[in-house]
Amino acid sequence: MDIASVLDDLSPTDLRARGSLKWTAPEEGVLGAFVAESDLPIAPAIRSALNDALDRGLTGYLPEHLEAQAARSCAAFQDRRFCWHVDPASIHTLPDVLTGMTFTALHLAPAGTPIVVPTPAYMPFLGLPAGIGAELRTLPMDRVDGRYTIDPERLERSLRGGGLLVLVNPHNPTGQVATRDELLRIAEVVDRTGSMVFADEIHSPLAYPGATHLPYASLSDDTARHTVTAVSASKGWNLPGLACAQLIMTNPEHLRRWGRTPLAVRHGTSPLGAVAAVAAYSDDGVRHLDQLVTYLDGGRRLFARTLADVAPQIRYAIPQATYIHWLDLRPLDVDPQTVADRVGVLGTDGAECGLEGFLRLTLATSQPIAQEIATRFGRLTA
Ligand SMILES: Cc1ncc(COP(=O)(O)O)c(C=O)c1O
Repeated sequence: MDIASVLDDLSPTDLRARGSLKWTAPEEGVLGAFVAESDLPIAPAIRSALNDALDRGLTGYLPEHLEAQAARSCAAFQDRRFCWHVDPASIHTLPDVLTGMTFTALHLAPAGTPIVVPTPAYMPFLGLPAGIGAELRTLPMDRVDGRYTIDPERLERSLRGGGLLVLVNPHNPTGQVATRDELLRIAEVVDRTGSMVFADEIHSPLAYPGATHLPYASLSDDTARHTVTAVSASKGWNLPGLACAQLIMTNPEHLRRWGRTPLAVRHGTSPLGAVAAVAAYSDDGVRHLDQLVTYLDGGRRLFARTLADVAPQIRYAIPQATYIHWLDLRPLDVDPQTVADRVGVLGTDGAECGLEGFLRLTLATSQPIAQEIATRFGRLTA
C-alpha cells in the first residue's frame, strides 16, 4: 500500500469527519495530538479478517480456539521480530494493557505490593494504583547525556521490601528504547529486592531503524521469572477499540494463578480483537506494519527538522520508537496548558505525566499534518 497516497491529501476536516476521539475532542481549527490513536490506514489483512469474522457472526464471547490462535500468533511475532522464543501456552488475552496491569497488581503480585512508576510516565499509570487501592511510589528519572535513566540507588530505595515496577519500553512519553545495559541494571536491583516487573511493551512494534527493542523478560532466567509482560497490536496497527491485549506470563507460578483466578476478572477480550490481532501478526500484517513504520519514520524526521527550524529553543530528542513526541517547553517559559489556545495543537500537559513544563504530542498522522503541527510551534517564539 502506498500510504502517502492514501493519507497525504487528507485535511484535518476530513479526519474530523471520520469521527475519531483524536479529531472530535479538539475545538474546530485545533489539531489533535493528545491521544495515542492513529490516522494511518488499517492493514488490508485486518480489514478482510474482520469482514470475514462479521460474516461468520463472531460478535459474541471469545472462544477458546481464538484465544489460543491469538497466543500462537503473538508468540510467532515476538520470535520473528525480537528473537524471543516464548511458549504460546504462557500467553493469555485481556481486553487491554491497563487491565493487564490491574490483574498483575491484584492477582499476581503479593498482596499490598507498592507500585513503582518511573516518571515521566504514561498518565494512567499514575492514577491506576489509587483506583485499585495500591500504594503508588513515583520514581523521577534522571536526564544523563540526553537520556532518561533510572538511578539504581533510587530504584533500590523505591523497591525496598519488594515492589512492582512498571517498566514501559519503548517508553511513553519519551520515545526511548532501553539498551541491554540499562535493562540489566534494572533487573539486578529488581532481583536483589525480591520485586516484580510489569513490562509494558505495547509500543515495541513501532521501533524505528537504528533502535533494537529487547523484550525485558527474554534477557535472562531471572527476568523471565520476575516479569509479567503485556503486549498488544493496539498501537502498532491502531486497534485499541477492538480490545485484545496479550499477557505473557513467563513464570509458571503466575500462569497457575491465572488459571485459578475467577473467569470474571480475566474476561472481556473481544473476539473481533483476537481476529484482528491474528491478522496483524501475520506475514501480511507485518508487511503493512513495516510500511507504517517507514511512513512514521519520515514524519518524525520532518517534524524534528521543522521544529528545529521554527522553534530551536524547544528541547527535543527525536523518538527512537513510537509516534509519541516529548517537548521541553521550559526554555520558552510557556505553560503547556496554554499551547492549544496559543498554537492550535492539543497535546498533553507533561504535568499529567509527572513532569511540569513539558508537552506530549502523538503524531500518528500524515506527514503534512505532522509538519504543520511543528510549524505552529513557531508561534511560541514570535
Ligand atoms: C505505554 C502504554 N501503555 C498502555 C496503553 C494503553 O493501552 P490499552 O488501551 O491496551 O490499555 C498505552 C496507550 O497509549 C500506552 O502508550
